Amino acid sequence: MKYIFLRLTIIVLSVFALVTTADAAGIKSGEIWPDTDGTHINAHGGGILLHNNTYYWFGEHKADNTSSALVGVMCYSSPDLQTWTCHGPALQVTDETGHDIERGCVLERPKVIYNATTGKFVMWFHLELKGKGYSAARAAVAVADRPEGPYTYIRSGRVNPGIYPADMTEEQKAAANALNRNDYKEWWTPEWREAIKKGLFLQRDLEGGQMSRDMTLYVDDDGKAYHIYSSEDNLTLQIAELTDDYTAHTGRYVRMAPGEQNEAPAIFKKDGTYWMITSGCTGWDPNEARMYSAPSIEGPWMRHPNPCIGPKAELTFGGQSTYILKRPDSDEFIFMADIWRPKHPSDARYIWLPIEFSDEGKPVIRWRDEWAPKDGSH
Ligand code: DGJ
Repeated sequence: MKYIFLRLTIIVLSVFALVTTADAAGIKSGEIWPDTDGTHINAHGGGILLHNNTYYWFGEHKADNTSSALVGVMCYSSPDLQTWTCHGPALQVTDETGHDIERGCVLERPKVIYNATTGKFVMWFHLELKGKGYSAARAAVAVADRPEGPYTYIRSGRVNPGIYPADMTEEQKAAANALNRNDYKEWWTPEWREAIKKGLFLQRDLEGGQMSRDMTLYVDDDGKAYHIYSSEDNLTLQIAELTDDYTAHTGRYVRMAPGEQNEAPAIFKKDGTYWMITSGCTGWDPNEARMYSAPSIEGPWMRHPNPCIGPKAELTFGGQSTYILKRPDSDEFIFMADIWRPKHPSDARYIWLPIEFSDEGKPVIRWRDEWAPKDGSH
């Protein structure tokens, strides 16, 4: 009897220890992250919105054996960035044949921002039409009255048709216009690279609009919002201003790092300097993170060395950037990335790490096996 009592006490104490350890456990990048129902969070290539003291995490729902969208954009909420409740799909794909977001399309890197004037939540994402590979290269937009949705799909398309970037002089426009694509049939030659920088693909896509693949959104301190996307066949990033209601482009945009092949842009501002972290282009495989800074969102952007430190730092710890969360309630910036699993997409993992700053004020992302976000008042 005494023995049974002792065994029971040990079991109860162990369970208690497990529960309290789980409670105390912080963020463990690369591991399974259960939501409050115990299911691995399914919100990839995502971003975070803080609204009314609650964090909302939006990301791609990934199926078990295809990277195509079978569900849509998922939404989770949390009071502390650690405990996440699933709200299901915020934007759902449809079964309507030929619809832009027909089930089986490619729907990537959704981000949501709140427009205080209209009171609407505005979602933008990268859209590829069903069965067309990655050729459509469109930006798509949807809106909702509540953060968790449901979001109403508005439209998709290429960006700013017929408009040259705001940072191109008349001389540069004429030079881009004079380029002949037949002279550059072979890619990756020094001449071709030079032509890309001058705007070979920008000019090619001028009439129909600029390509838009990997993307993020940024709302500046003055309330202006920007759409930042891999364009020109993923060779050049573009930064395009959104209209006051955030649901369309104004026509003003600039090119960034022409010809440098950046994907996965994530941006933040600290002490008046804009920082952008991106990846190179190696499909689902990880590569070395890139970092840029600028005194204005429209540039000029300057390149810095890889900010990552620790195991697999030269491969972004096995991940690819997706978002940087600036916490308004603390001085914390959190770098967020995806570890893709293309053979089992729903099992893809997340990397979240706090950004440190060097003595010169440069961002440093150091690997940590486990850490906890600072307490904040939101
Ligand atoms: C890398 C991109 O960053 C991802 O969003 C996705 O488009 C994959 N390429 C597809 O290979």
